[in-house]
Amino acid sequence: MASTIRSVKGLVAIVTGGASGLGEGVARRLIGQGASVVICDLPGSKGQQLAEELGQTCAFAPTDVTKEADVQEALKVVKTKFRKLDVAVNCAGIGVATKTFNFKKNTPHSLEDFMKVINVNTIGTFNVIRLAVGLMGLNQPDEDGQKGVIVNTASVAAYDGQRGQAAYSASKGGIVGMTLPLARDLECEGIRCCTIAPGLFDTPLLAGLPEKVKKELCKDVPFPQRLGKPDEYAHLVQSIVENPMLNGCVIRLDGALRMKA
Ligand SMILES: NC(=O)c1ccc[n+]([C@@H]2O[C@H](COP(=O)([O-])OP(=O)(O)OC[C@H]3O[C@@H](n4cnc5c(N)ncnc54)[C@H](O)[C@@H]3O)[C@@H](O)[C@H]2O)c1
Repeated sequence: MASTIRSVKGLVAIVTGGASGLGEGVARRLIGQGASVVICDLPGSKGQQLAEELGQTCAFAPTDVTKEADVQEALKVVKTKFRKLDVAVNCAGIGVATKTFNFKKNTPHSLEDFMKVINVNTIGTFNVIRLAVGLMGLNQPDEDGQKGVIVNTASVAAYDGQRGQAAYSASKGGIVGMTLPLARDLECEGIRCCTIAPGLFDTPLLAGLPEKVKKELCKDVPFPQRLGKPDEYAHLVQSIVENPMLNGCVIRLDGALRMKA
């Protein structure tokens, strides 16, 4: 029987948040496997520098994922440089650590901060998806009828959010919640949608923490008792793209970590 597993070689992807951490890992891996990548990240990020390092099959499109015009511009770069879009990987994200009410200072959680996290993580993810699938829909379907794949990044905080993570957990819960309806909305065009919920990964997000604190964090990870590596995240993205049966689901990638309060 012929295999339905298709390599990422020759595919074209956008990777939001692709200038750093997990997104950078995805850009590096996809390019290493023969795909082309447009890194969509903030203008002040190191996206341009990274694109130059990764060579001809990589480009940078300065993008704020919350802005429709920016995402449209990024898709124009995709069309002009690589002619089509097969894969959209959403890694852009931010977080805050604030309790719902500071009873010592008698101050509530800033509503502005709450809205900012939802705006970038949840609405930004949806904004990219709703625009990117328009371009994917123009592709010729493969033998399986597939035209494209979307991979989102939630977090284990969507399930076991800690103190101070109301905004972040809500934003990631929104991504978990939209995964199945997105897959259902897009099946008519042969576009799949999956979400990864990472545990603790060694990225610039955690780089500021002292080694001692990182070690403490890892103690809660049953096995392997260490931070995940961006390439391990990127490898799952590649697997999702290559395996046509993965659709409408959220996959935890966490070494069996269940975050404590
Ligand atoms: N590192 C972890 O342990 C971990 C765990 C669970 C989930 N995540 C999630 O993984 C994703 C990547 O995180 P990371 O650890 O690589 O962090 P990171 O800070 O290294 O990378 C995030 C990238 O997103 C970009 N970004 C932020 N706001 C943006 C916007 N409005 N438009 C476009 N780009 C924007 C940043 O410039 C940055 O390059 C995030 O969604 C994060 O919530 C990370």
